Amino acid sequence: MSSSSGRHFLQIPGPTNVPDRVLRAMARPTIDHRGPEFAAMTKVVIGGLQRLFNTASSVVIYPSSGTGAWEAALVNTLSPGDRVLMYETGQFAAQWRNLAVRLGFDVMFLPGDWRHGADADAIGDALAADPTHAIKAVAVVHNETSTGVTTSIAKVSAAIAAVKHPTLLMVDTISSLGLTDYRHDEWRVDVSVGCSQKGLMLPPGLGLNAVSAKALAAAEAARFPRYYWDWRPIIEESQAGFFPYTPPTNLLYALREALAMIEEEGLDNVLARHARFAEATRRAVRAWGLELVCMNPEEYANSLTAVMMPDGHDADRFRALVLERFNMSLGTGFGRFKGKLFRIGHLGDFNELMLAGTLSGVEMGLAEASVPFKRGGVAAALDYLCQ
Ligand SMILES: Cc1ncc(COP(=O)(O)O)c(C=O)c1O
Repeated sequence: MSSSSGRHFLQIPGPTNVPDRVLRAMARPTIDHRGPEFAAMTKVVIGGLQRLFNTASSVVIYPSSGTGAWEAALVNTLSPGDRVLMYETGQFAAQWRNLAVRLGFDVMFLPGDWRHGADADAIGDALAADPTHAIKAVAVVHNETSTGVTTSIAKVSAAIAAVKHPTLLMVDTISSLGLTDYRHDEWRVDVSVGCSQKGLMLPPGLGLNAVSAKALAAAEAARFPRYYWDWRPIIEESQAGFFPYTPPTNLLYALREALAMIEEEGLDNVLARHARFAEATRRAVRAWGLELVCMNPEEYANSLTAVMMPDGHDADRFRALVLERFNMSLGTGFGRFKGKLFRIGHLGDFNELMLAGTLSGVEMGLAEASVPFKRGGVAAALDYLCQ
């Protein structure tokens, strides 16, 4: 029997549930994007994003998906053929690398097993072996959404500093921003890449770059052709609260509302809530007798948990059954993990009872799909949440 009454459980690791407050904010009439009300809003959202990225530097907002913000990071700072060092943490690191290769950059892709974060020592060694400073940028994914593994950006930054290499550091914060501690300035990140549909609880449609003074200087020297992505006119116009093109006004209403919600709860509380739900989820997975994809406890993701499917069972068939039977969407596996893992998103506008419902759907789905597992995962999670 399939279930179509009640509400859908959107438990993929983004796009996430959009809170009613945000939906209502978006439903307001569009205003003149060259008028004073709009200008005031731009200043408020840029200030809120600076607090989220932990930066005093410029933040650029694009009407784009995260992929656009990836591209913007590269084309603003580099010249054709420049060398970029990237690290294979999973599907999204591989996609960023494909984008860079397609644009003609010379990408060194350090191999990874998709179950660990980027190895800061390996990055430091690659930079130490580059005395001519051919490497112009190191680009890593903070939270690899395809596997639920987080890289220590503090360690990557320290490895770069230890070898005194002048490279830029670019970090994809798409599934960590507003979900995991992130410090653009303190970790000396030059370009942080973000987007709207994860921790910000918005629909897809906004891409973000936080940009250091060093990255802005690199943009002056960079020779890669760019127009739409060019930071300079966007930053210049944003001083007065405007954009050099027609901005996505209603998504900016949504952003203002979502930032207000995060500030009302307090960013530290938001991060702690996500860490707690992630721990509860891992306790459920262990009690089911299933294996986490992430192998290093220091690298567990706050925003999602990826779970290995026992051999002989197809994770995508399990996901299809959960959708059909319980009206819940779980995340798929990509690349080498296609059919081998499923991902539980526990991020954004999300609370204890939503987590309990999500884990119950997984536990019932495992039983219905005849996956070998032990009952009691939901109980283990609830025990933790009730401590
Ligand atoms: C870590 C990460 N980077 C980049 C992207 C690509 O973003 P988009 O699909 O919005 O272009 C995603 C999408 O899920 C992601 O999770």
